[in-house]
Amino acid sequence: MRIEEAKVPEELINYIREKGITELYPPQEQAILAGLLEGKSLVVSSPTASGKTLLALMAAYLKAKQGRKVVYLAPLRALASEKYAEFSELGRFGIRTSISTGDYDSSGESLGRSDIIVLTNERFDSVMRHRVAWINTVGLFIADEVHLAGSDSRGPTLEMILTKVLHLGIDAQLLALSATISNAKTLGEWLHATPVEMDWRPVPLREGVYDYGRVLFTDGEERQVPRSTYGSPIDVAMETIKEGGQALVFANTRRRAVSLATRAAELTQKRLSPEEKKAVSEASRRILGAGEETSLSRLLAEVVAKGSAFHHAGLEGEHRRIVEEYYRARAIKLLAATPTLAAGVNLPARRVVIADMTRYDVEQGGNAEISVLEYRQMAGRAGRPQFDDHGETVMVPPPSQPAADFLEHYTKEPPEPIRSRLADEAAMRSHTLATIATARGLSKADLDSLFGKTLLAMQVRPAELTRMTEKALGYLLSERLLESQGGLFYATDFGLRVSMLYIDPVTAVMFRDGVRRAEPGKGYTAGLLHLVASTPDFEPKFPLRSKDYEEAMAFLEEHAQEMLQRHTTKEFADYDRVLQDMRSVMALHGWVDEWREEQLLSRLGVEPGDMHRAVDNADWLLHALVELGRLFKAPDVLKQADTLRRRVSSGVSAELLELTNLSGVGRVRARALYSAGFKTLEDIKEAPADKLASVEKVGTAVARKIKDQVSKY
Ligand SMILES: Nc1ncnc2c1ncn2[C@@H]1O[C@H](COP(=O)(O)OP(=O)(O)OP(=O)(O)O)[C@@H](O)[C@H]1O
Ligand SMILES: [Mg+2]
Repeated sequence: MRIEEAKVPEELINYIREKGITELYPPQEQAILAGLLEGKSLVVSSPTASGKTLLALMAAYLKAKQGRKVVYLAPLRALASEKYAEFSELGRFGIRTSISTGDYDSSGESLGRSDIIVLTNERFDSVMRHRVAWINTVGLFIADEVHLAGSDSRGPTLEMILTKVLHLGIDAQLLALSATISNAKTLGEWLHATPVEMDWRPVPLREGVYDYGRVLFTDGEERQVPRSTYGSPIDVAMETIKEGGQALVFANTRRRAVSLATRAAELTQKRLSPEEKKAVSEASRRILGAGEETSLSRLLAEVVAKGSAFHHAGLEGEHRRIVEEYYRARAIKLLAATPTLAAGVNLPARRVVIADMTRYDVEQGGNAEISVLEYRQMAGRAGRPQFDDHGETVMVPPPSQPAADFLEHYTKEPPEPIRSRLADEAAMRSHTLATIATARGLSKADLDSLFGKTLLAMQVRPAELTRMTEKALGYLLSERLLESQGGLFYATDFGLRVSMLYIDPVTAVMFRDGVRRAEPGKGYTAGLLHLVASTPDFEPKFPLRSKDYEEAMAFLEEHAQEMLQRHTTKEFADYDRVLQDMRSVMALHGWVDEWREEQLLSRLGVEPGDMHRAVDNADWLLHALVELGRLFKAPDVLKQADTLRRRVSSGVSAELLELTNLSGVGRVRARALYSAGFKTLEDIKEAPADKLASVEKVGTAVARKIKDQVSKY
């Protein structure tokens, strides 16, 4: 079908043609025939890179032109940003797009000024809890990567927001998108949407398996791969690189990604053209110049300079972005990554190598074979249409196992069906509270009716579902987040605030009890950090390693007087459980004590990317603690918590907080200025600019920027 045949206004057709698109891909055509442009709800299941975004874009354009709002839901911030950039291009037609991915405690009312609103699933959940008025004017909900409804960590939120959207009673279109659903019919039934399924790829994908010095492909072809001492995944990757392609290697742990990239670098460095050499040394310099230097960033810079890189969540965000940029520009030849990279972002790879076919599985407490769904998501990174004209995926199973079986299983079996994860206790209590708090009064029958519309309700027996909601209600009533009156449940002030703050009710109860234990006039820094780090909302957690035990016990003893939870001393049975949280507490404590990232890494094994996430999370939780604390009247400890929140946010001692208020002054510069005698904004105001510029790590440009800011005081 030619693009002109789609029933959309000419200006949109011209715009799509400008992007170089003249023919619709078959899955796109099928979705249009199924009624996409007439407002029909659809569950589109078609392979990676088959153009699902264009469907979303066309439907969004039409709705916006009808004066209805469009909500685009993405599972990850990076994906939300990518889509925000794409939808913003509709600005030329007077369609306004905005994005919101954080700040769960703000209402989001102002987002209603836009026509298209891009949000993460969690942010949209929080917006609904604030009962924003614009929700009732939404005419199209787009749920991207909808298979994540089946993921244990964030699936329940997606499931609940989609259920509520259907329950709102507004006449909105729903467009659910994924590359990996095998039970599209069930999903369609749940979402009142027509399933559109098509197994078609714009760029042919060849799938193969490595077996003792050769790769066997599904089409019967066999290719010899020269064996070296670098190991099979690298041998397989290098074969493509020698032919001028790039390889993306998936590893099952961070350590493995690092070791694969480090080894491969010795080979890729011989494959770089002079221009590529220039580009990678520039990338390497940029890595060393961005953020704090650690042994990890030094290693990354060294490997990148040789044309390889590793990519995982332990890296600083800026370092990850630099790696992606130079990999996209084709200067970096081999990228060894953990599977988080597989979710939705667009990167080139002639060949994807799956170096490990097993992954640590929490439920099984050991390594388990990856799912077909995971395999498909990783394999789908190969051969993105705008980068390569064909793609290849090669899996590398353990040598002891029959390679052909792997090929058969992963390429022939459909991905596992999406199963609800809402049966999780934490998810049930949070969403039960949120539902009642948002409704401002709800009967048990209303609640059952809502939960009766979830995917979970289609997959468990009714009695089981009732047992779960009753358990959640029991907890919420006993902790006084809810009360019941005249046959209706209401959220208490406490419950309302908890729902809006977007925290687990258990976290809230821990905060309430902890704050009540505080005595006026005492210091609680370590205790507040412990309170935060031990809640179910804190992530990432840094579990205690055996070598940390002694230090953790000493830390706890030293700070015994500051603890706000019970049972933190040795004579109690749960002392060991308390100790488990201590590595997280020590990391946060080190951070506000101005430990450098290198110190956190070498002493506690905490990688920079994780530290930054823990810091953002602790910042949000301390905010929640202060807000909740107002209900429990403990002004003294709340003031401390507020100062501590600012210290966590900047990573500094209290004495530097005045300086870190300045833009351009982070923890390192603030300390340098302070040590040089510039301790307050007043000091800076009085200092001559050249004096400031001569301070270590400051320089003329920053000095000028700082002076400009203080002159306004
Ligand atoms: N009809 C078309 N003709 C040519 N190129 C197209 C067409 N439709 C989409 N594309 C291009 O295909 C690329 C991949 O599309 P898109 O990002 O929508 O993939 P997707 O189906 O969402 O895959 P994933 O499941 O991996 O997210 C984009 O660069 C897009 O511009
Ligand atoms: Mg997509």
